[in-house]
Amino acid sequence: MKKILFVASEGVPFIKTGGLADVVGSLPKCIDKRYFDVRVIMPKYACMKQEFKDMMKYKTHYYMDFNWKNEYVGVLVAEVNGITYYFIDNESYFSGFGVYSDNVIDEITKYSYFCKAVLSSLPLIGFRPDIIHCHDWQTGLIPVYLHERFQQNEFFRGIKTVMTIHNLKFQGRWDVKTVQSITGLPGYFFTSDKLEAYKDANLLKGGLVYADAITTVSDTYAEEIKTEFYGEGLNGLLNARAGSLRGIVNGIDYEEFNPTTDAKIDFPYDKVNFRKEKIKNKRALQKQLGLEQDDSKFMIGIVSRLTDQKGFDLIAYIMDELCQEEVQIVVLGTGEERYENMFRHFDWKYNNKVSANIYYSDELSHKIYASSDAFLMPSLFEPCGLSQLMALRYGTLPIVRETGGLKDTVEPYNEYESTGTGFSFRNYNAHEMLATIRYAKYVFYQRRREWNKMVDRAMAADFSWEVSAKKYQEMYDWLIG
Ligand code: GLC
Repeated sequence: MKKILFVASEGVPFIKTGGLADVVGSLPKCIDKRYFDVRVIMPKYACMKQEFKDMMKYKTHYYMDFNWKNEYVGVLVAEVNGITYYFIDNESYFSGFGVYSDNVIDEITKYSYFCKAVLSSLPLIGFRPDIIHCHDWQTGLIPVYLHERFQQNEFFRGIKTVMTIHNLKFQGRWDVKTVQSITGLPGYFFTSDKLEAYKDANLLKGGLVYADAITTVSDTYAEEIKTEFYGEGLNGLLNARAGSLRGIVNGIDYEEFNPTTDAKIDFPYDKVNFRKEKIKNKRALQKQLGLEQDDSKFMIGIVSRLTDQKGFDLIAYIMDELCQEEVQIVVLGTGEERYENMFRHFDWKYNNKVSANIYYSDELSHKIYASSDAFLMPSLFEPCGLSQLMALRYGTLPIVRETGGLKDTVEPYNEYESTGTGFSFRNYNAHEMLATIRYAKYVFYQRRREWNKMVDRAMAADFSWEVSAKKYQEMYDWLIG
């Protein structure tokens, strides 16, 4: 049995702020249990729901030298759907209202502590992974610490590491002196071939330098991050490590997202009866959200973190123009205040056309996937993107910008060959996006048979984890040798 340990800052069902949590929650379940024992470790946050805290049992505790102090480390354990989850417990680091804070130095301290605690607890919990699979900058110090001190201990010798980039934009950067003092790493780790980048210490960079393999969450993003535009300053390093870098596209949980059995939607439907049944969901949602109740309106859904990355500048720019037309726009999500207020404003201005729901609700998200005709995702960059996969699964056609995973998972409509599962545009340009929305609308109103055939293809596309989980397994096998 090969042992794999996932290390991440968030994971479904325990805690989620974004797509990272979905991947950490769903991928381990899809790795073949006959050959792999996959476990997950994450912090125990004060902001986790009580029902999840109640599932955790005490495993062990000890004290660890960290940041010039002797710090408590508790380890808790829970089992869900056959997967073992460990939690690192320390109330001073993982308290707070949310998972993350805007205080960079706090974040760096807390995840440095987390990385060191993860490694030092392994001998005590009696799980020696063959591979530690790290996710995003919060876990970047794991390969570094492993190399720097833990591998001197017999228990750790030969453990391999994988670093998966879900979002290169976040790297965990702060000045060298402070980070050196917090982490306790020797000075020679802070040179430009190791943790230093542009005069700062960079935790993700450390992970990328010392990991045995690097992956990211789509083929296109794996190529893009080697360029200056998408490389976030690390394109040089990623080119140097190109031989160890590959893209493996994310999947989604096909049981959780299943229009036929989904208890969160009002009218379940399938590939055969969607023509009659899907629209009932739209009627119900129009009613629930106080939109004009009219079957013929072209409903566009948006479920997203409201950040720069997702292309909301483009939307803001053409909202007035778009709202002159026969559309309805349903938004769900939270994030940067300017985008929250932008959608609130348009909801006020075009009350029966725009519904801004500035919060997060799992249930409403499923209703939006089921009810909308199209799903808009004009991202500036998108490592993979999961919402477009959920939309496809529910026969809601994505309108996307051709970047990262959006490019790899949405096949643009070709009216001559009658192929495709959605609509796409190339440049980060508001009117190119608007023209694409109008084209989708035209097909919806004037070529309904073609539209429905596209829905057929969208619902038949397979973005379950099956294929991608095999690719991870191949990589694990290859690394373990
Ligand atoms: C991040 C990326 C998103 C990706 C997700 C899971 O949230 O922004 O594109 O789908 O991680 O890998």
